[in-house]
Amino acid sequence: MERLVRGMGWAVRGVVALGMFAGVAGSAQELPRLVQEQGRATLMVDGKPYLVLGAQVDNSSGWPERLKQIWPAAERMRLNTLEVPVYWEQMEPERGRFDFKVVDDVLAQAREHKVRLVLLWFGTWKNGKMHYVPQWVKQDVVGYPRMRTKEGKAIDVLSPNAAANLDADRTAFSALMKHLREVDAQHTVVMMQVENESGSLGSVRDFGPAGQQEFKGPVPAEVVQAAGKSAGSWTQVFGEDADETFAAWSVARYINAVTAAGKKELALPMYVNNWLKSPRAYPVTTIPGEDYPSGGPTINMMAVWKAVAPAIDVLAPDIYVPNSERYRGVMKDFHTAANPLLIPESLGFEPFPGASGYARYLFYAVGDGAIGFANFGLDRVHLDEPLNAEMMAQIEGFRLLGSFDRELAVLSFAGKVQTAVEENGIAQRELAFGTWRAVVSYPPAYDPPASPVSTSSDTTQLRVGRAMVAQLGSDEFLVAGIDCRVQFAGSIHSGKQVQLLQVEEGRYEGTRWIPTRLWNGDETDYGLNFGGKGSLLRVKVGSY
Ligand code: DGJ
Repeated sequence: MERLVRGMGWAVRGVVALGMFAGVAGSAQELPRLVQEQGRATLMVDGKPYLVLGAQVDNSSGWPERLKQIWPAAERMRLNTLEVPVYWEQMEPERGRFDFKVVDDVLAQAREHKVRLVLLWFGTWKNGKMHYVPQWVKQDVVGYPRMRTKEGKAIDVLSPNAAANLDADRTAFSALMKHLREVDAQHTVVMMQVENESGSLGSVRDFGPAGQQEFKGPVPAEVVQAAGKSAGSWTQVFGEDADETFAAWSVARYINAVTAAGKKELALPMYVNNWLKSPRAYPVTTIPGEDYPSGGPTINMMAVWKAVAPAIDVLAPDIYVPNSERYRGVMKDFHTAANPLLIPESLGFEPFPGASGYARYLFYAVGDGAIGFANFGLDRVHLDEPLNAEMMAQIEGFRLLGSFDRELAVLSFAGKVQTAVEENGIAQRELAFGTWRAVVSYPPAYDPPASPVSTSSDTTQLRVGRAMVAQLGSDEFLVAGIDCRVQFAGSIHSGKQVQLLQVEEGRYEGTRWIPTRLWNGDETDYGLNFGGKGSLLRVKVGSY
């Protein structure tokens, strides 16, 4: 993670002009990097802010033949990034013999479709298990020790306390990063996910010889300090949380070593994702190793992970929470000054019984200044079948934001972006921009709602009105809306009347704004009304 150079920081603090990064001498050779400034973060890709608007393919879809079928959906949604697994079992079929054919094909396809990649290293851990390790690891239980339960039973998770396991994974991941350094000068790959939902299912920690040996030792100083405790044994320091905290230290140390070795070859931004423990998300699931993988980068272990794993840039939540309030609670938990918000997996393409309105989450994430957002399971977007309203709403949201993704990233990193998202019972939201307010109401209508609280008792309908409003200058705004009405007003205390000076509809081509028509008359006299197909407006406001 690095800080912006001072000069760029000044530019960001100033009034934003669209295309402000267009003049930066960005080049395709420039290594993508994560930059943090004033509590905000962005990925810099080709020298300019980049916001991952993406999707993840299904687990067994990182294969060239399969992937070919998925690109049309990515194109339809205007995704700028695809998250694709790299399988250790495929990449190193025999110890020390690496086969990069699949990776190379995936890179070639992504380039052909002008989409960037986040590669997911399915190595030692995949969803709390070891199912993606090569056969030569699976078959050699002596050379590559498994975790053992308290009762001494071996499970299908590699021990994070055994040096041979770390050594094998680190060697393979380093080989992958070295290969990328050699074949990906244009940085089609913008970020790496190291492992997948790490930690163990089946035991809270390793009770085998390697684990026991380390558990006997004192808690390392950095963990003691991160936890704000006094030195002692794991049990003395952490009491009933000793096993899980030990597991977190063991897994974080392991993945940090894998990450650091990979970065030595090619220093792309790297993150870990996690299977949530958050009681906010799932109030009933709380047993580490049973209900969620123990030792993974869950919220309760964030301090340990941050202290032990400095090579990892972001701890990222996979959010499969079909409840808007809880969803936002998880985002809040994982968005700290030291941890940019990245949602590498979100529910959406797979319906949850009784849930709806998945299209909201992308806009919430963008409003919170996320550096990236991806829905899981792009394979499920079957363009050759009729798409239901849920799917259409999600596609439309991605399409609209994807149509100006680079500008959005610049504005977001400058802190100029806010979003307003519809919820049942809420008829109106206000976004404050200094002396101006953008009043967003739902659904589109001639008149503003009589009350900000919806009087409709109907909670069955899909509620997905959304708006993104970004301040471009002192009296100029970019507005992207779907299924809502936007009206500009002065600040509550100004006492002035507001007029629309100009409302331009248009689109971006790269960083260039292409106006296509002016809205006026019926299109502006009753508020700016956006239908189910989103539009992009540049609005100049004034007062008299
Ligand atoms: C979370 C995992 O990280 C993904 O690989 C996939 O298994 C999804 N769950 C399935 O919902």
